[in-house]
Amino acid sequence: MNSRIVLNVDIKEKGAPLGDLFGIFFEDLNHAADGGLYAELVQNRSFEFDPIDNANYHSLTSWEKVERGVGKAKIHVEESNPLNERNPHYLVIDVIEPGDGVGIMNLGFNTGLPLTRGENYKFSCYARKDTDFDESVKISLESTDGGIYADAIVSVTSDQWTKYEVTLTADANDYSGRLVITTKSKGKLYLDMVSLFPEKTFKNRTNGMREDISKLLADMKPKFMRFPGGCLVHDGSLDPDARDSMYRWKNTIGDIEQRPARRSNWGYNQTLGLGYYEYFLLCEDIGAKPLPVLPAGYDPHHQRMVPINELQPWIDDAFDLIEFARGNVSTIWGAKRAELGHPEPFGLEYIGVGNEEVGEPFFERYAYFHKAIKERYLDINIINSSGPFAAGGEYERGWKSAKENKSDLVDEHYYQTPEWFLANYHRYDNFKADEPKVFLGEYATWGNTYYNALVEAAFMTGLEKNVHAVGLACYAPMLCNVDYVNWKPDMIWFNNHEVYASANYYVQKLFMNHQGDNQIKIQVSGLEKPQKQKIASITGVISVAANQISAEFSEIKLKNNDTGEEIPYDDAFFSVEAGISRISETDWENYTLSLKAKKLSGKRGFIIYFGEEDQDNRANVNSRNSCLTQSLFAVDTDREYKLKLEVCGRHIRTFIDGEIINETEDKLPVIEPLYYSASTENSTGDVIIKVVNVQEKPVTAQLVLEGTDSDVLTGTIFEMSGYNLCDENSFEAPKLVVPRQKDFSVNVKDFSYEFPKQSITIFRLF
Ligand code: AHR
Repeated sequence: MNSRIVLNVDIKEKGAPLGDLFGIFFEDLNHAADGGLYAELVQNRSFEFDPIDNANYHSLTSWEKVERGVGKAKIHVEESNPLNERNPHYLVIDVIEPGDGVGIMNLGFNTGLPLTRGENYKFSCYARKDTDFDESVKISLESTDGGIYADAIVSVTSDQWTKYEVTLTADANDYSGRLVITTKSKGKLYLDMVSLFPEKTFKNRTNGMREDISKLLADMKPKFMRFPGGCLVHDGSLDPDARDSMYRWKNTIGDIEQRPARRSNWGYNQTLGLGYYEYFLLCEDIGAKPLPVLPAGYDPHHQRMVPINELQPWIDDAFDLIEFARGNVSTIWGAKRAELGHPEPFGLEYIGVGNEEVGEPFFERYAYFHKAIKERYLDINIINSSGPFAAGGEYERGWKSAKENKSDLVDEHYYQTPEWFLANYHRYDNFKADEPKVFLGEYATWGNTYYNALVEAAFMTGLEKNVHAVGLACYAPMLCNVDYVNWKPDMIWFNNHEVYASANYYVQKLFMNHQGDNQIKIQVSGLEKPQKQKIASITGVISVAANQISAEFSEIKLKNNDTGEEIPYDDAFFSVEAGISRISETDWENYTLSLKAKKLSGKRGFIIYFGEEDQDNRANVNSRNSCLTQSLFAVDTDREYKLKLEVCGRHIRTFIDGEIINETEDKLPVIEPLYYSASTENSTGDVIIKVVNVQEKPVTAQLVLEGTDSDVLTGTIFEMSGYNLCDENSFEAPKLVVPRQKDFSVNVKDFSYEFPKQSITIFRLF
């Protein structure tokens, strides 16, 4: 039988500041920038698309030739007389027979260019002509079958590159529009940087952002924005002038026609039209502190690294960026910022060095960055990295480096099952306050259902309670164009004209809108103890596999560590060609598997599956998995390794040649009776109480507010409840899962509330 549950909040007992806890992460993947937030409607505007970006790309990707009536033209791309060196390719329209007009059309992103009746569109391009070319050029917005929504005439008068601009007003709605450029002249017309922007961008910025997506970002009220990636930051060549260079911020500022096209490691092209100046402006426009991430001259994906004695230019990039963000206009980079239109500093408190790094070469280089930046800018918070997983060798290496260098924060990343998040709710409880703080720079449960959002909300109360250890946190990834998916789940989904926010978004928004400035004391009594599940051991099928290699396995033994019983595997020796072989099935609670393994050829290594219940879902539960721990190990060919796996209950240890490689606990999820946190907001004096009930039953609690003289409590309740756990927002039902809001006024002494089953409730008390 339940005892009475009391949530006791003492508003006079102010705790730790919450600082900039909840923010966002803009990562350019899933076409988040070009074809996403960046409002440019033309795809491949400067004819720079290249197979380096994507094997299917070429310089005319997203362009089609137009020949009307008996018109005939040749179109091709040249580079002998370019607009500038950084923009080497341009289009040539070689008119053979003008007919009713010949030229080119752009197909835009997704289904085409999204056009809205009555809206203005700003066209611009660079053009030049040869002497035979003596007619005007028609710019039109059209339907796929040639219906005209808007048109204008441009006279190209010079044989030198000249910028031409015109505004077009669409007279219909069409999300599959085309931008068409035709002429009835003879001769040759040369075009480059062909651009079309909606006049309405977020905050009416030139070269601006899509209004609908930006508005969703601003509505969250994020405290900070991490950008521009992700793997995008450090995957690439070391040469800033190489087409596939790492993300180098200096390439991304200034006139857009001077910004070089770059390969994105996510398999597309970056125009860099959304560059560092625009990122800073966006941060300002949505009220978020900028948190740029710089590469450290090391690419962990391809093991490219700048020699230590050549690191200075990379460190200078960090210095210059800090100056660009906050130097006064008498400094070189402060003046550059002013020249771009922003004499006032943007401000900068945080800088990330590296993203999700693995390998000693990064940490060797990090130390140089850290020392140099701190010597010059003591107040900048420098963020180190702890790799892509929640635990293991690289994670520990990152934390060791952070402690040795006294990094301000360490960037942790994990994408896991909801069950992992529930099992790890107390992850940060015992982290120390005097060590580097956690920057949870990427995290998400696998999915966009209400259940995912609910579990993330529960976990976030844990982050809020642990601000002694957690400084910053942001969900990832944030944006995804539905037709160019690199990674899912994502927080916000869009096509070329619509956008919807996931259930996860609404949780993030609630926590950001109602973060508060300081913790206040909240104590709960009368709760049942979290239900401990019976510790089920990890039993089931055991198999070994050759992961994209050919391998030999021998001397395979399974031993019961409680009884000493041993099961030798029948085939003392066998080979596997990129496949899997079942060894045994066990119900023992405490066992050791030992074997010898040799790689004969191939790139990867060996896998041992254990605790397997479902062969179709190997290594996954309900198609999702969590990485409990991870350590790097490179397997040599033709060398024999002694492998050992020890499983005792939920405790797992792995050894290679007698040396321990991993040790972890596969914790079972525990559902706490309630998840809760409380804070106050300085500007309003409001008290904020967050309560998440993950259980399948409602929980009624008495809410007691200490430290107030008033008899009546008034405020607003924001609640998410009543959804099926599998409910998901979509274009068809964008508001299926959203918070509801109601005002309330109650007697302080008698405030009992029923938290519905599987609900998220936020009280904002005035
Ligand atoms: O957010 C998706 C990717 O996940 C990021 O690029 C990378 O940092 C992580 O592996």
